[in-house]
Amino acid sequence: MYPSTACVLPARGLPHEILTPKLPELCMKLGSNAHNLDHYWMPFTANREFKAKPRMLVEARGMHYTTDDGRTLLDGTAGLWCVMAGHGRQEIADAAQRQLLTMDYAPNFQMGHGLAFDFAKQLAAIAPHGLDRVFFTGSGSESVDTALKIALAFQRSRGQGARTRFIGREKGYHGVGFGGISVGGLINNRRVFGPLLPGVDHMRHTLDIARNAFSPCLPEHGLELAEDLERAVALHGAETIAAVIVEPVAGSAGVILPPPGYLERVREIATKHGILLIFDEVITGFGRLGTAFAADYFGVMPDIMTTAKGLTNGALPMGAVFCSRHVHDTLMTGPEQLIELFHGYTYSGHPVACAVGLATLEIYQREGLLTRGAALAGHWQKAFHSLRDCPHVIDIRTIGVMAGVELQPRNGAPGARAHEAYLHCFYNGQLVRATGDTLAFSPPLIVTEAQIDELVAGVRAALLTVA
Ligand SMILES: Cc1ncc(COP(=O)(O)O)c(C=O)c1O
Repeated sequence: MYPSTACVLPARGLPHEILTPKLPELCMKLGSNAHNLDHYWMPFTANREFKAKPRMLVEARGMHYTTDDGRTLLDGTAGLWCVMAGHGRQEIADAAQRQLLTMDYAPNFQMGHGLAFDFAKQLAAIAPHGLDRVFFTGSGSESVDTALKIALAFQRSRGQGARTRFIGREKGYHGVGFGGISVGGLINNRRVFGPLLPGVDHMRHTLDIARNAFSPCLPEHGLELAEDLERAVALHGAETIAAVIVEPVAGSAGVILPPPGYLERVREIATKHGILLIFDEVITGFGRLGTAFAADYFGVMPDIMTTAKGLTNGALPMGAVFCSRHVHDTLMTGPEQLIELFHGYTYSGHPVACAVGLATLEIYQREGLLTRGAALAGHWQKAFHSLRDCPHVIDIRTIGVMAGVELQPRNGAPGARAHEAYLHCFYNGQLVRATGDTLAFSPPLIVTEAQIDELVAGVRAALLTVA
């Protein structure tokens, strides 16, 4: 077991070096035997398999994690797509500590604090054009549910209260709230939780390996899939549809890219029919594609944009929903003393999360991380496409500093091959992510070209090893 934290927590006023807890060293010595694993029900994890052979992390610095048996892992996934500026950033830790001791918590219902306003203003300054009204949440899932609720409230506020349907997309991942799994399109995340939100329909996804395998850029084929939105309108009637939600690049389903013109066409159809367009940028936001947001990369502006993860460099849980002024102002009606949107979370605009977010943005801007991906993208693409000749690889997709390597599923055991490759990497020094039969990669944006090569070499070794 861990020792009592009372003996290792920093005391006020001592230099950071002296205060650094010795937990990592201690846990390394004790190994996973240090913990009773029975009580923690782990998220999105094969709990029994994991607990039989745990993979425990104890420390993170820069581009690396350390495991409890003292090994170093190159972080090929920015944690879970969120640690854009790398791990253990002093300014972020300082901002959190300062704010915890200044004002640890403050309600944001019918009162406020400066950090939330300052953070929203800074975010508005880097947001895609016009999306300058910001609603804070505690996670990506909360951001998605918030966006869906804002869309309903917007439609009702403009006298279109019959617009209650949402259109999502197959293979979409929009978190795990009931709204998010309703518009999401990953079967395992939905099937035991039905019947979900009524009236939701889905467009087809844009993954078409037969026609687009190994596309060096955006996939050539599939623009016609955008017409699925027209078909939904023809089927349900535009007057029943509040919003359409898509990830500009689908992440969790295995890095699925839109064909050229696809997002533009979805935008066009949505506008034509008075349907709000929501971009879920929980993964693509904050520099992943080499622009601040995917909306900038594709030059397509949504009406609402959901974010989280990179918002605070993953250091504290927080999300933000960016709205166009039109959406926002449409809701700023009625008597001024009345609450305009009956929605919010205890942790909306949490002062410590805002302080961490402000420190994060400062790092992003000072180090040019929101656009660094553009400079890395060429090397990244070339490095990953060099895996084309490895066994089992049936497709490789890259964009910005994001890659998916699709493996041939093993007969009767979907996902097993990618999981084994993930394990091989884990035990040989790289943290990668397996999602279905895809290996997904999204390192911190401080990654060097040499580290990209090291990551790819590790993946190659794994692919040459797994059966
Ligand atoms: C596109 C997208 N939306 C929403 C979410 C949910 O975010 P969270 O896990 O913070 O609730 C994720 C998480 O990976 C995501 O990738």
